[in-house]
Amino acid sequence: MGFFKWINFFMIFNFFSLSLSTNYLDEAKNPDVFDWMVKIRRKIHENPELGYEEFETSELIRTELGKLGIPYRHDQVAVTAVIAFIGTKKSPFVALRADMDALALQEKVEWEHKSKVPGKMHACGHDAHVAMLLGAAKILKEHEKEIQGTVVLVFQPAEEGGGGAKKIVESGALENVTAIFGLHVTPRFPIGEVASRPGLVYARSGFFEATISGKGGHAAFPQNSIDPILAACNVVISLQHLISREADPLDSQVVSIGSFQGGSAFNVIPDSVTIGGTFRAFSKESFMLLRQRIEQVITGQALVHRCNSTVNFFDEEKPFYPATVNNGELHKHFHNVAGNFLGINKVNDIPRPSMGAEDFSFYQEVVPGYFFLLGMQDPSQERLASGHSPYYRVNEDALPYGAALHASLATSYLLKLQHEVEG
Ligand SMILES: *[C@@H]1O[C@H](CO)[C@@H](O)[C@H](O)[C@H]1NC(C)=O
Ligand SMILES: *[C@@H]1O[C@H](CO)[C@@H](O)[C@H](O)[C@H]1NC(C)=O
Repeated sequence: MGFFKWINFFMIFNFFSLSLSTNYLDEAKNPDVFDWMVKIRRKIHENPELGYEEFETSELIRTELGKLGIPYRHDQVAVTAVIAFIGTKKSPFVALRADMDALALQEKVEWEHKSKVPGKMHACGHDAHVAMLLGAAKILKEHEKEIQGTVVLVFQPAEEGGGGAKKIVESGALENVTAIFGLHVTPRFPIGEVASRPGLVYARSGFFEATISGKGGHAAFPQNSIDPILAACNVVISLQHLISREADPLDSQVVSIGSFQGGSAFNVIPDSVTIGGTFRAFSKESFMLLRQRIEQVITGQALVHRCNSTVNFFDEEKPFYPATVNNGELHKHFHNVAGNFLGINKVNDIPRPSMGAEDFSFYQEVVPGYFFLLGMQDPSQERLASGHSPYYRVNEDALPYGAALHASLATSYLLKLQHEVEG
């Protein structure tokens, strides 16, 4: 492209994305779309379903897509997933993703649409993510004739540890997709603002569980038992030394034990103790080394205390999540679109990656992907609880921002591809 063509392209592109975005936000705030999203979100909130059990959520999504006349695939894609298509149904394809699963948590917020399922709750906003992607679908359907390609909507199961994204990738549903976008609501930023960063965003993450077996007996006579509690305590302490003594202090890593189960009486040494935890690192090398050393430390420390042990890394049920890495070109696109849309001072840079994890990373292993945070805190209100709290609440006023951003990120990206081809 010559200099003037470039200028021309940027002017046209910015003009288009600006007018698209502002339209989309107005449309998303319109009661037609807004009230509808709120209703859907509340319905899903009342009936939370855990990973790979999102049967009713999936059915609700398909019903609404059907009413909008949007075709979708459902059979043989990651159990409950729904993959929908809007636009020319031809290349190029750009994907938008929402996760559908809830958490095993008892809701403690008293409100009209509180979870009706004891012990299950949407405490991470996935109900809002689904509603926003459906909102985007409704807006995009209205503009289907203007879409220069196909927007692929990915409603995925099991983000919370089950690796639903991995199953979607394995199903081949993203085969011809050029880019994928995903978002997460957060109380860390005010409503109307977004935050992200190029490159590393979240760590590589895995889970493990170990059973340490000794020999139970009366606690008054420890000499007749082999105490798995003391062995497990030493395991936990030794695992921390992997971080403090073996890892490079400049190469961030984490090992946390979140579960320690054993015994039930004050005067009985139990037969066994089961511990479980998570480990994180950014590079594959550090991660694999950590995994190997976790196993060695557990086995070795158990033996020191005359116990046997087994270690399970859940390779099938809870696959390792790769690191979440945002594509640099998509970062520019995001900045451009979100800046036009919200004002450039509302687009925040996250200064550092975090040890959190997101299974969006499975998509990023096969296609360029971009993940960002959508603010939902009303600055005049009390700070909303953070994710995975039984007091978690979603500010529904954020729904139009998510829906409109989804829609404009996709359509303007397709427009950009079109211009690149013509250029
Ligand atoms: C991807 O494109 C190829 C060639 O056009 C086609 O055969 C295939 O079915 C497409 N895959 C998907 C998942 O749409
Ligand atoms: C550990 O395993 C060995 C071999 O199976 C067995 O002989 C021993 O009794 C076990 N020890 C404990 C404490 O369970």
